[in-house]
Amino acid sequence: MKRKLTAWVCIGITALAVLHACTHEIPATSVTDPGNSVTVIPGSSGRTCSADSVYFANEILPLVNSGCAMAGCHDAVTHAEGLNLTTYSGIMKIVTPGRASSSKLYTIIVKSGGDRMPPPPQSPLAADKITRIQQWINQGAKNNVCDKCDTTDFKYSTAIKTLLQNKCVGCHSTASPGGGIDLSSYSAVKTVALSGKLYGSVNGSPGFSFMPKGTNRLPDCEIRQIRKWIDAGALNN
Ligand code: HEC
Repeated sequence: MKRKLTAWVCIGITALAVLHACTHEIPATSVTDPGNSVTVIPGSSGRTCSADSVYFANEILPLVNSGCAMAGCHDAVTHAEGLNLTTYSGIMKIVTPGRASSSKLYTIIVKSGGDRMPPPPQSPLAADKITRIQQWINQGAKNNVCDKCDTTDFKYSTAIKTLLQNKCVGCHSTASPGGGIDLSSYSAVKTVALSGKLYGSVNGSPGFSFMPKGTNRLPDCEIRQIRKWIDAGALNN
């Protein structure tokens, strides 16, 4: 199943002849992106997030990371040829701040025909995701983060679902369930949650594969939200 999904970003990079190692650094216990100057402050409160801004750490990095890896960036062959799209500095190699229309990261996803990434027969990225990438670049492609996480909210519909959609489902959809794990619907998530694997993987507990794969540890606040939701029965609330 995974094999069928072509490496949209990584192949794109190859096509662009941008030759940087597509190594996915795995800082399992670090909350700092190795290519970034910004440190994600776990669970800090009182920061105001602007509703008009698109934040790199919150949206863009998870989107590019899951899109790339789900498409085979972890594949040994692609890995050797591509670009490191798991860090800010890696992604910036194909971004011109303030100008989405001159940034390969943007132009490649809005192209029509065979050059588009992800390539046909795969569907293009969803329109809202394309718009967020465009907005982020036009807002200056900053290495920014917004901690809007609140541990008092740990409902499925308001906290858990969005978190999984943004950071996990790219690699754990029904069509492409990494490791056989589907996180795209409540019933599927519930099964994973009650098996102990959901918490074990995001917490990095011994015996579990660390998630999200290939990138930074989730902020502590989000790990706590997941814990609380599971402890309360993993309800569809
Ligand atoms: C870049 C792709 C990618 C991302 C992003 C990702 N996963 Fe995974 N996940 C995988 C793959 C591939 C496996 C199979 C095991 C392995 O290769 O480590 C896996 C395995 C798992 C497992 C099984 C772990 C075990 O030890 O049995 C769980 C649970 C899981 N992922 C949850 C998540 C959650 C929750 C997120 C988001 C916070 C996430 N994953 C993000 C690719 C990904």
